[in-house]
Amino acid sequence: MRILSGVQSSGRLHIGNYYGAIREFVRLQEEGEALYFIANLHALNSVRDGARARELTLETAAAFIALGVDPARATLFRQSDIPEVAELYWILGTVIPMADLQNAHSYKDKLAHGAAPDFGLFGYPVLMAADILLYDSDVVPVGRDQRQHLELTIDWAGKFNRQYVPGYDSQKRTGGLLKVPAARTRDETASVPGRDGQKMSKTYNNTIDLFGTDKEIEKQIKSVKTDSTTPDAPKPTADQPLYELLKVVFSPEEFAAIDAKWREGGGDPKTHGYGAFKQTLLDGYHATFDPARKRYAELMNDRAELERLLQQGAQKARAYAAPVISRVRGAVGL
Ligand code: TYM
Repeated sequence: MRILSGVQSSGRLHIGNYYGAIREFVRLQEEGEALYFIANLHALNSVRDGARARELTLETAAAFIALGVDPARATLFRQSDIPEVAELYWILGTVIPMADLQNAHSYKDKLAHGAAPDFGLFGYPVLMAADILLYDSDVVPVGRDQRQHLELTIDWAGKFNRQYVPGYDSQKRTGGLLKVPAARTRDETASVPGRDGQKMSKTYNNTIDLFGTDKEIEKQIKSVKTDSTTPDAPKPTADQPLYELLKVVFSPEEFAAIDAKWREGGGDPKTHGYGAFKQTLLDGYHATFDPARKRYAELMNDRAELERLLQQGAQKARAYAAPVISRVRGAVGL
């Protein structure tokens, strides 16, 4: 089984990225040939400063490793180190209907927010499809917000295969030039809420970051939205980002005890007020992420080593890409 996924180097990573994606990357690297990359070409859509883009690429690489991606086991690389991806992006684009891209949510959301989208944003799902299809990927672990892109990728792989492989059977999905992948999402963590209850996202400014300072993290956690229920009253569980976040950060066994307290209510605000539950979340955050945060700081102090690891990963990734791009070039007549 070949597993592939990527994370954009467009800013600070947050716990939604971890629970929705990177934790799965770590689990799946034990189950097959895993390829994980830093989507630094995608990041150019929002980072328009070369020095900052370079820095964020290294930060994202350090984050992967600190959180448990093992470069000896998984192929860890930078998207831009594999030029074949840009070639496949173009070739795929020649068979993709404009309407598919006009309907893609990443593009529609931007329009809805009144932004004037660039071509880069419009073509973003095509580059993502090229990322996936270039490596003959079987399984792509992603959060819910990326599912639509996966569905498009599956459609386009079929379309390309029907175009270039005589007698291609779309039902069986085998025997194509491009392998048709499958998405993998875990229901419990497919969409981690942010501090305001919307999906956690840099764009909404509602994140709990993975690698901020202790002070920043405390501030973020203390600002999770709550209602006006008093400590003595049982707390509602619907539309409560604090409750959802506790459920995500703690194991089911640990959460069971927190949940009981949440529902029972009690006179003492020190144990049953929202402030107390926020403190519990902060403690859970530190217990979960402090080892990775320490490791992250160490990795960022040895950039030469990070660079070496990325170049080693790029070599391996290019070897996976070579037969696929050569098949594609042959079929389309290049
Ligand atoms: P990106 O960088 O926005 O997010 C990286 C991963 O984190 C997941 N994620 C979340 N999961 C649960 N709850 C949340 N609140 C949350 N926020 C983010 C995302 O679903 C994603 O899995 N286009 C991609 C990067 C990419 C890619 C690819 C992924 C480029 N090429 C090929 C897979 C395969 C992106 O922008 O993800």
